[in-house]
Amino acid sequence: MRIDIITIFPEICDFYFQQSLLKKAQQAGLLKLKAHNLRDFTNDKHRAVDDKPFGGGRGMVMKIEPIARAVKEIEKEFYPLRGKSKASSKKSRIVLFSPRGKEFNQKMATKWAKSDQLILICGRYEGVDERVARNLADEIVSIGDYVLMGGELPALIVAETVARLLPGVVGHSEDLIGERITKSKGFLEYPQFTRPEIFCVDKKGKACPPDSSSKQRCWRVPKVLLSGNHKEIDAWRQKNSKVIE
Ligand code: ADE
Repeated sequence: MRIDIITIFPEICDFYFQQSLLKKAQQAGLLKLKAHNLRDFTNDKHRAVDDKPFGGGRGMVMKIEPIARAVKEIEKEFYPLRGKSKASSKKSRIVLFSPRGKEFNQKMATKWAKSDQLILICGRYEGVDERVARNLADEIVSIGDYVLMGGELPALIVAETVARLLPGVVGHSEDLIGERITKSKGFLEYPQFTRPEIFCVDKKGKACPPDSSSKQRCWRVPKVLLSGNHKEIDAWRQKNSKVIE
């Protein structure tokens, strides 16, 4: 799979793509991630990506021309067949980020992970010329009911959520099992603990070794998880797989 991000801040994405499992997945050839600088698709001497809104009003609006050119070139570069032939087996999906969009969730990620290519368009400024949403994008997506300064963080969230579903990206297939237990409300994960079995803090909140002093507060790992009884452990995990509210 390929994920292409169209942004005026490609460095933000490039940095993230060079870390940890995303970096390894690319090195292993499981995934290609590329951030494209929107200014490279302008054809005026100021490399302008925005302009004043028609009808007046505050701020600037991102122009459709460089976005349309970027989408076309990215598609042409990787999937010359898309658009020309209905028989093309390549599946690419064009996503525009906007707080007005449909809220992103795990179910969408699972569906999108079957695409050959995702083209993610990051808006900035006061907004994006509405013709991008109406005519170029397949989906308008929000990552939550709040307003960010742009679509870069949403694009990275989508890229990572989709990437970890691709075969081989996350080391152990068991790591993805939790996702099969999805509920309408959200997706369920049981609480995890690791060593030490007992963690204590003193009066000032500083970590200290456990002793019998009444001045310290200690937090223990649930006994059942130390029992080695996998039937009971599974039952405990099942019971405690709740959405935290
Ligand atoms: N751009 C600004 N805020 C956003 C949000 N919540 N989701 C997607 N894109 C955005």
